[in-house]
Amino acid sequence: MIAVYEKRLWKRVMELSAIGEQVDSGGVTRFSFTEEERQAKNLVISYMKEAGLVVREDAAGNIIGRREGRDPLAPVVLTGSHIDTVPHGGKFDGALGVLAAIEALQRMNELGIETLHPIEVIAFTDEEGARFGFGMLGSRALAGTMRAEYLEYTDERQYTIAQAMEIAGLDPDRVFEAAKRPGQVKAYIELHIEQGTVLEDRNLPVGIVSGIAGPLWLQFTLVGKAGHAGATPMIVRRDPMHAAAEIMGHIYREAKKHPNAVATVGKVHVIPGGINVIPGEVNFTLDLRDIDETVRNQLESSIQAYAVQVCKENSIDLQISTLQRVAPAPCSPDIMSIIENACRKTGLDSLTLASGAGHDGMQFSNLCPIGMIFVRSRKGISHSPDEWSSPEDCHAGEEVLYHTILQLAMGN
Ligand code: HGY
Ligand code: MN
Ligand code: MN
Repeated sequence: MIAVYEKRLWKRVMELSAIGEQVDSGGVTRFSFTEEERQAKNLVISYMKEAGLVVREDAAGNIIGRREGRDPLAPVVLTGSHIDTVPHGGKFDGALGVLAAIEALQRMNELGIETLHPIEVIAFTDEEGARFGFGMLGSRALAGTMRAEYLEYTDERQYTIAQAMEIAGLDPDRVFEAAKRPGQVKAYIELHIEQGTVLEDRNLPVGIVSGIAGPLWLQFTLVGKAGHAGATPMIVRRDPMHAAAEIMGHIYREAKKHPNAVATVGKVHVIPGGINVIPGEVNFTLDLRDIDETVRNQLESSIQAYAVQVCKENSIDLQISTLQRVAPAPCSPDIMSIIENACRKTGLDSLTLASGAGHDGMQFSNLCPIGMIFVRSRKGISHSPDEWSSPEDCHAGEEVLYHTILQLAMGN
């Protein structure tokens, strides 16, 4: 039996996922500072107003819905997630956290519940970094970890983030105005799909996150000499693809030696890219993560040293640039026990697990304690049109989020 709350939340998840839906794949593509994201923001603004929140867009393009508490000067409890997606992504990644938070506050208003602390729901922009190769822009701006040079990252049409913001009607020079000051925020709590199989393996709808693995994104650029695929003997070639293949093999071999490490070569670009042409240039990205930063650093050094060696042996010019480096973020034990309490109130068993995926909450580590609630993902699939969480699990997650926010905002 789907209660009224489930219907409303589920209906909103489906409505939001229709914006940016790709006819060919059925996935959702909603990049930051695009028309699709603007439509999604307008829809989220309408939901926030229906929920009785006071809504504004901050200087970074985040949408913020505020619910006042008894003491408007008390530190605010923040909750939310992102509404941008990866290319051909799923319906739930980010969106569920925003909509469940709106639902929780709408229920508080409908039940006439008064809290001590104000509460703000945030729909962050550009968490995925899919368009510019640099993520968590909205949460960096709001958490005060933004730097001017971040606005210079470019998309595939060479638009900078600053230019894209201007086209979207924002003033990039004002982005620092979005920052919350230390002392202004009591806690940040985010609901998100697990994007793994731990909860499904244990047949649990909801989990408590202990910490978030930190993504390191590197760009490898290898330059050799283009040539004729048929007439150039192997011995004389300076083939960057040969070196790239060796380096990628090393990346996967080394990452497999560590239980929590993950390494992904997600983008490869070959220039000029002809079947019968030895490439002149190959560039590829590496997404390297571990919940333990020392392991991630060891892997990075090993991969770097191997790449230098292979390129030297093959007379290839090598450049490695860092696109983003986010430290792993521990969740607050106090908030974890509040979530555990909320699970009990909701009649759910709870399980603690780490997050392999990165999340906006990582940016808040130096501003306030953070907490995350996971909702079960079917087969652990995410960043794919097959991403799925059931209405019942989405509602269970929202119930736990509701009780968690309530306890944080009551101020007891
Ligand atoms: O890449 C991530 O882990 C997240 O989906 N942005
Ligand atoms: Mn994602
Ligand atoms: Mn996400």
